[in-house]
Amino acid sequence: MKSPDLSVQLAPRNKRGLLLSNPVLTASGTFGYGTEYAEVIDIQRLGAIICKGTTLKPRPGNPQPRLWETASGVFNSIGMENIGIDALIKQKAPLWAKWKVPVIVNILGESIEDYASLAKRLGKVAGVSGIEVNISCPNISAGGMEFGASPRSAAEVTAAVRAKTTLPVIVKLSPNVTDITKIAFAVEKAGADAISLINTLKGMSLDIKTRKPVLGNVSGGLSGPAIKPVALYMVYQVAQTVKVPVIGCGGIVSVSDALEFIMAGASAVQVGTANFTNPRAPLDIIAGIERFMKKEGIRRVTELIGVAL
Ligand SMILES: Cc1cc2nc3c(=O)[nH]c(=O)nc-3n(C[C@H](O)[C@H](O)[C@H](O)COP(=O)(O)O)c2cc1C
Repeated sequence: MKSPDLSVQLAPRNKRGLLLSNPVLTASGTFGYGTEYAEVIDIQRLGAIICKGTTLKPRPGNPQPRLWETASGVFNSIGMENIGIDALIKQKAPLWAKWKVPVIVNILGESIEDYASLAKRLGKVAGVSGIEVNISCPNISAGGMEFGASPRSAAEVTAAVRAKTTLPVIVKLSPNVTDITKIAFAVEKAGADAISLINTLKGMSLDIKTRKPVLGNVSGGLSGPAIKPVALYMVYQVAQTVKVPVIGCGGIVSVSDALEFIMAGASAVQVGTANFTNPRAPLDIIAGIERFMKKEGIRRVTELIGVAL
């Protein structure tokens, strides 16, 4: 059998499009700017890289400790430590422009105007293939999840970004809401080219010796295998609500995890926490999807999208 076709188009409504050679991306905040992993794995074989969340000004992040291991998961309360948009455009984008692998920039604002100006700044930067709008960060006092909590504010941010750029726009949703399908529907209507989900689930850990919360910021965002069933169900629900591509994320560590998300309706998947224990995880998953397709006689990965719906 000929090599199966793993390519996916994540922005079919967008003139510029976002065609990936395979459906496996690295999740924001778990893969730096890509450069950090370039000596460890062949990053050019990834479907795409989503860089660390980026704000208008550099941010120092929250007080330590900011990472805490839990049963089958990790809490983080990084609080958006990042170099800021100017340094990203000056130092990182010129490197990305030489890469084969597309890089998507994850953006985060404290106001709708912040999101709009970040999108405007990125529009014509060589090396940037798309924008992921983070309206789902649970670790900051202003912005982020605040905007992703209601269909109205989620749509306002999406429309503001849409108005400022022709780049493919992916909106990343929070699981910390009552009905994620309402938010998904609203952002699709407001102009999102694709929707990614989920960001981390808000929670906390206590230390019984100090009798205090372990994280410097008290609460954090839970990621890793513990959240996979929650993420999978939300992808399953959202994929039945919207027509734009859905990108699944949350606890994916193996090829069967990735295939479950694709069968539940995801056009692509993001690998996050798994990168910390196995930087090869995304490449192993790509190879595993190809093996599965050959074994099952499937020619195009798109044939598998949503077969469980
Ligand atoms: C240390 C850490 C930092 C993260 N930073 C970001 C970020 O900057 N922007 C964002 O949208 N998501 C961020 N996330 C969330 C991940 O991209 C992903 O949505 C979440 O971890 C669930 O996927 P996983 O279980 O595969 O890690 C971060 C997650 C972790 C663990």
